[in-house]
Amino acid sequence: MNTINYSEKIPNNVNLSGDRALQRALEHWQPNFLQWWAEMGPEGTRDASVYLRTAVSVDAGGWAHFDHVRMPDYRWGIFLTPADAERRIHFGEHLGEAVWQDVPGEHRANLRRIIVTQGDTEPASIEQQRHLGLTAPSLYDLRNLFQINVEEGRHLWAMVYLLHRHFGRDGREEADALLQRRSGDADHPRILGAFNERTPDWLAFFMFTYFTDRDGKFQLCALAESGFDPLARTTKFMLTEEAHHMFVGESGVSRVVQRTCQVMKELGTDDPARVRAAGVIDLPTIQRYLNFHFAVTIDLFGADQSSNAATFYGAGLKGRFEEGKRDDDHRLHGLTYAVQEVVDGRIVTRDVPMLNALNEVLRDDFIRDSVGGIGRWNKVIEKAGLAFRLTVPHKAFNRKIGTFANVRVAPDGRVVNEAEWAAHQSAWLASAEDRAFVASLMGRVIAPGQFANWIAPPAMGVNKQPVDFDYVRFN
Ligand SMILES: [Fe+2]
Ligand SMILES: [Fe+2]
Repeated sequence: MNTINYSEKIPNNVNLSGDRALQRALEHWQPNFLQWWAEMGPEGTRDASVYLRTAVSVDAGGWAHFDHVRMPDYRWGIFLTPADAERRIHFGEHLGEAVWQDVPGEHRANLRRIIVTQGDTEPASIEQQRHLGLTAPSLYDLRNLFQINVEEGRHLWAMVYLLHRHFGRDGREEADALLQRRSGDADHPRILGAFNERTPDWLAFFMFTYFTDRDGKFQLCALAESGFDPLARTTKFMLTEEAHHMFVGESGVSRVVQRTCQVMKELGTDDPARVRAAGVIDLPTIQRYLNFHFAVTIDLFGADQSSNAATFYGAGLKGRFEEGKRDDDHRLHGLTYAVQEVVDGRIVTRDVPMLNALNEVLRDDFIRDSVGGIGRWNKVIEKAGLAFRLTVPHKAFNRKIGTFANVRVAPDGRVVNEAEWAAHQSAWLASAEDRAFVASLMGRVIAPGQFANWIAPPAMGVNKQPVDFDYVRFN
């Protein structure tokens, strides 16, 4: 029952053929999506056959099938985790009631906004990454890029299905608009800031998939708690794919760090100029990339205090990360949460109503989770016998959203004045010169088993294939 039928025009496990009007509407959207993919999807490798993982079932075990797929033949579909007939709303003012299979009228506008905002990030990241195939450091990495891109494309399908199925004409218009906005476009930008930044090189790509796909994980986890059951079920299935995206980021940065450390040891130097001259990325530059991507990503969680967040929670639309594992009353009235703000040039902590601080709660959960990988990157440096350590900047550093948007804060959490900021900015954030250097290292490596000089090979291949497997075949 949970097996996906790929002989249908739109593979799905939602009985699409049982709803002809919906099927027709989605079949009408499909060519527009394919047109968008042809224009904005991965560049320069249209005919390649890529060793991809494809969903063949939504059951917990064994849903994935691996094979070479010609990119033009790739099939996007609609997959939801199976329904649980007993499922109840487990937070907010509707706690204990049966979950909704249809959108309650009073929550329609908010649910539509949540789904559109999530849906918008999916094509945005593909647009941001579309040039990277031209400079892939190996076939293994090129394959991972495509895997992520096709899955983000499917995540767009997931949100478009919800819009078409549950939001009538407005939903269809929103689904069309998802193909019309463009990342970084001055007139029609994507909705959220981080998704309008460029992802110009592979270090930026690995940082993006480590940090920004992890934001995706936390948003999806919060939506997987939703009282609107179709949203909960579709985001649950999306989460199974998100884990791989974060793995690509974590292992990618780790391999860059590993290669740099190897060269530093060979040369017996920690001088960034000498490290760069050897064609690898010096550790301070990696830190500056990290600082940029961390700050831009934590902005995605929104304002520290937000009445929308309180509304979404109270209405049962969006829960907290691992809502079910928390042992409070899941209504949160009368509870407080510590948020930070700048008073008289210092960062101080203040307790505010937790319901209004749920963006900050999710941001702090994200920060705790993202620190882990940085510890593992430092292990690589430590193992090489080097003293340098990567660090997570203070959460007030370089923020554009929330209470820290209008203050200058150093990575160590000191509030600084404009002059000090200007003097140190290029030591704290990747500069144009850093990016130009990293860009100078990027070049396409497409011989099986070969890797660009600036990155170490992975410890193992994909799906137990050897590292020198032909993950991508150019036809
Ligand atoms: Fe996604
Ligand atoms: Fe992702």
